[in-house]
Amino acid sequence: MAYIDPEKAALDKPYNEPFDEQSSKEIIRVRGLTKYFDSKLAVNDLSFTLEPQDVFGLIGPNGAGKTTTLRILATILRKDSGEVVIDGTPLEYDTGMESLRKIRSTIGFMPDFPGLYDDLLVSEYLEFYARAYYIDEKMHPFVIKEALEIAGITELANREIEGLSRGMKQRMGLARILLHDPKILLLDEPAAGLDPRARVELREIIKGLRKKGKTIIISSHILEDIEDFCNRIGIIEDGRIVKLEDMDTLAKETIKYTICKVTILKNREQAKDFLSVYPQVQNLVWDEENLRFDFMGSDEELAQLLKIMVQKDIEVLSFNKERPSLEDVYMKFTERKPIT
Ligand SMILES: Nc1ncnc2c1ncn2[C@@H]1O[C@H](COP(=O)(O)OP(=O)(O)OP(=O)(O)O)[C@@H](O)[C@H]1O
Ligand SMILES: [Mg+2]
Repeated sequence: MAYIDPEKAALDKPYNEPFDEQSSKEIIRVRGLTKYFDSKLAVNDLSFTLEPQDVFGLIGPNGAGKTTTLRILATILRKDSGEVVIDGTPLEYDTGMESLRKIRSTIGFMPDFPGLYDDLLVSEYLEFYARAYYIDEKMHPFVIKEALEIAGITELANREIEGLSRGMKQRMGLARILLHDPKILLLDEPAAGLDPRARVELREIIKGLRKKGKTIIISSHILEDIEDFCNRIGIIEDGRIVKLEDMDTLAKETIKYTICKVTILKNREQAKDFLSVYPQVQNLVWDEENLRFDFMGSDEELAQLLKIMVQKDIEVLSFNKERPSLEDVYMKFTERKPIT
């Protein structure tokens, strides 16, 4: 059963904007974004729109195109085609550097494997980046102090990077992209490798950033890692968004169906054939010795199904049913391949 944190409700807001209508409230607009690496189609006709203060989870398996999408938005990688508009500025490459400069000042991008300089102190590292962002030297102590505070690592300022844990390094990477106070944060797999405690802390930081007015895109291949702090979810597979929902709607999907697991003693193949054409049965798979499927009907209709199975001389040894988690909903749209 999916646990929906009541606190998260504060993050949720309705998302009713018609898909094709340009809204003055939008801060990121992506339409038909496409990117090839040689003949490999990495991002395929991708579209989504975000409003200010959206926290958008881009979820997908390895190789789905998450990093490629984020790197294009961060202007590190060139798109092949499609429209990208960031805070009113269209992403264009043939207008000198103007468009890119404007977009870069609006965006803070935290890569999945930030290159860190292990022999520096945390404060030296941030100082280096403050310079790289062309922040006025007089302002450095202030912006560094604030970034450290927001990332919750003020006490680490004089520590060497080398001895820091992964969670602490992650926060330092976050502090770095806050230095120039960007409106938009692109975080590539920020929760990867964090222990549960560090993940809770990350969640608090993200909530704080959202309150400060930031719009955030977070990628992950594990929905559970980020479901607490996203108000919108895009499920990406093979470079395409296969589902785009606000979190509330996705959570509602979990009550639309039941996951069933049946152990059959006799006539297993007959049971499989019967279930594979039953109208309310979806995603039928063998799960070791059991048949596993999603049932799209009520409990009464499920009881009816069992009754018919028994009438057909299919001997059911055990029958389990459970409510899907958000993770199951995600799997439903991605990896689990049904029996054909
Ligand atoms: N620089 C590159 N050169 C060639 N192919 C690439 C390059 N970068 C990515 N790809 C390919 O593009 C596809 C999308 O990769 P991408 O890194 O965007 O996926 P991802 O969703 O971030 O995956 P992961 O969860 O593993 O980080 C993959 O098939 C990948 O092999
Ligand atoms: Mg990636």
